[in-house]
Amino acid sequence: MAKKRILTGDRPTGLLHLGHYVGSLANRVRLQDEYECFFIIADLHTLTTKPSREDIACLADNARHMVLDYLACGIDPAKSVIYLQSAVHEVCELDLIFEMLVTVPRLNRVPSIKEMARSANLSELPFGLLGYPVLQAADILLPRAHLVPVGKDNESHVELTREIARRFNSMYGAEIFPVPDVMLGEVPTLVGTDGAAKMSKSLGNAIMLCDDAKTVEKKVMSMYTDPNRVRSDIPGRVKGNPVFIYHDSFNPDRDEVDDLKSRYAKGKVGDVEVKQKLAKALNAFLEPLRERRAAYEGRRGYVDEIIYDGTQIMRAEARKTLEAATKAMGLSAVWNRISRKAEETKKKQAAAGGGGSGE
Ligand code: TRP
Repeated sequence: MAKKRILTGDRPTGLLHLGHYVGSLANRVRLQDEYECFFIIADLHTLTTKPSREDIACLADNARHMVLDYLACGIDPAKSVIYLQSAVHEVCELDLIFEMLVTVPRLNRVPSIKEMARSANLSELPFGLLGYPVLQAADILLPRAHLVPVGKDNESHVELTREIARRFNSMYGAEIFPVPDVMLGEVPTLVGTDGAAKMSKSLGNAIMLCDDAKTVEKKVMSMYTDPNRVRSDIPGRVKGNPVFIYHDSFNPDRDEVDDLKSRYAKGKVGDVEVKQKLAKALNAFLEPLRERRAAYEGRRGYVDEIIYDGTQIMRAEARKTLEAATKAMGLSAVWNRISRKAEETKKKQAAAGGGGSGE
């Protein structure tokens, strides 16, 4: 039986961090063999909040860095397709078709849109930003994906995608699109090093996948912990403490983590020891990523080639899906009828003397 498909990806806004890893990247790496994977570099999505020439000028390099992060994590380009959204034009056509199947009030209820407008300092909502999740639905359904591994902030977009897939199929009486499932990571939203709800590069509370060992150590040593614990002999709070959330996510030595937690709760360990052990665990986790990244960086032009090849594969898939979708709608028949008739007429005219109306 054919493998089921995954589609997921990211906007190329910069480098990826630990939050991306536990939210979605870990699932991608883990599921590479079980699924046929498509990873989108969603550059068109960046235009919803950053449409300037200067922003666009950064996209190619941002895309390259992001793909290096993917490869560093263990995404294998021999197994998975990595492609550039803006080079697969069919996504715009599918987006337009889907726009007819969603209402504006429904989009107004998608929580992340207002959040994105706020963080981009936009006082009024651009039409394209309102349509962000519709374009994402087109991304997901273009390769007819069954599963979408994403972080918590994208859950509502996959929900909308499911509605659109059902709507399309019932409206046009064909099972063109699977109704895709969302898959959240083990930690759907990772806290920042400052204890803020979400790790984010723009908030400056992120540990990047390409940070070197010294940087990781520095960031960990200045992490937010239990603010009430002004001395190490005061019992501390383990639950919800970012340092222990990171230990749980990245330290494979369960005994060490359990021991630290119980001593912390009793006031029998200092923050420094807890943090030093965390920095060590994080660096042990990141070291193989650094090695892979360095190996790929050493092969000049390799990343561009991966994106190029992936985009060609995706283009072929996109044409197939769009053909099936517009056929089910009866939309492709409109042009087919007109063009067939026109071609017949032209042929007849040519047979009757070629010279057009000149006789
Ligand atoms: N919305 C995703 C983000 O937060 C990026 C994205 C665009 C995406 N298209 C997608 C994710 C399709 C999963 C599937 O950056």
